[in-house]
Amino acid sequence: MTRTVYVNGEYLPETEAKVSIFDRGFLMADGVYEVTSVLGGKLIDFDGHAVRLQRSLDELEMRSPISKDDLLEVHRELVRANGIEEGMIYLQITRGAPDDRDFVFPDPDTTPSTIVLFTQNKPGLAASPAAQEGIKVISIEDVRWGRRDIKTVQLLYPSMGKMMAKKAGVDDAWLVEDGFVTEGTSNNAYIVKGNKIITRALSNDILHGITRAAVLRFAQEAQMEVEERNFTIEEAMQADEAFITSASTFVMPVVEIDGAQLGDGTPGRVAPRLRELYLEESMKTAI
Ligand code: PDD
Repeated sequence: MTRTVYVNGEYLPETEAKVSIFDRGFLMADGVYEVTSVLGGKLIDFDGHAVRLQRSLDELEMRSPISKDDLLEVHRELVRANGIEEGMIYLQITRGAPDDRDFVFPDPDTTPSTIVLFTQNKPGLAASPAAQEGIKVISIEDVRWGRRDIKTVQLLYPSMGKMMAKKAGVDDAWLVEDGFVTEGTSNNAYIVKGNKIITRALSNDILHGITRAAVLRFAQEAQMEVEERNFTIEEAMQADEAFITSASTFVMPVVEIDGAQLGDGTPGRVAPRLRELYLEESMKTAI
């Protein structure tokens, strides 16, 4: 099926959408992105993603080519045009395409930012079988740059991490820096001890997950205890449960870390409950 995508103000068939070879996203990974999930044909937490996008742009002194209201309209139009019931919308904004390759940022008055959006159709995303079984992870060293709070398109290391996981016969990798877990390759990481949900506190070391914010809020509203602090892989291996969160996996139980099975090797009580809670609550405010 040919998708309808959005490029610099135009809706086009994916086969006709083009970006310059001088685009700084292509040459320098000079771009930011967002992934917003769609459930029941509606956008989950659009506002959260729009706010984080603006923050990423501001941190990189990059100009937005679109207003928030227009961005919402584009998201909605792509969902409609592509008949998306469950899936994701990918959005990327780069510092545009100057006349030539140059490390120095181009003048935003003469080089407008590039904007691209496309849909990813994922029927059955909410009822994912992986969520029933849980996923397995390995730990790898976190060698990414120091501004992981900015959602840039520099995804080579996360991509390599996924390949290391694949080669090890597991589903994903958790990144470890100075002995402590930072996050997953494309998700935030949590462990559960008794009734307590433990996850690293926000800083420049991790992406400030939109799903993370919602899940922690729902957990606290449901009287669950949340502790934002560092944890090691050793502590994680001894935990009762573990899980990850992201816009594309929601809440996904982790049942094995570096070959050590957690509990009885099936998703425990807390992660599946949080997934249920997240899907239920986030659908209520979907737009
Ligand atoms: N990844 N940490 C990293 C490094 C991420 O790349 C992501 C999201 C998250 C979770 O953030 P959120 O809850 O806002 O999706 C945490 C997206 C889904 C991706 O790259 O496809």
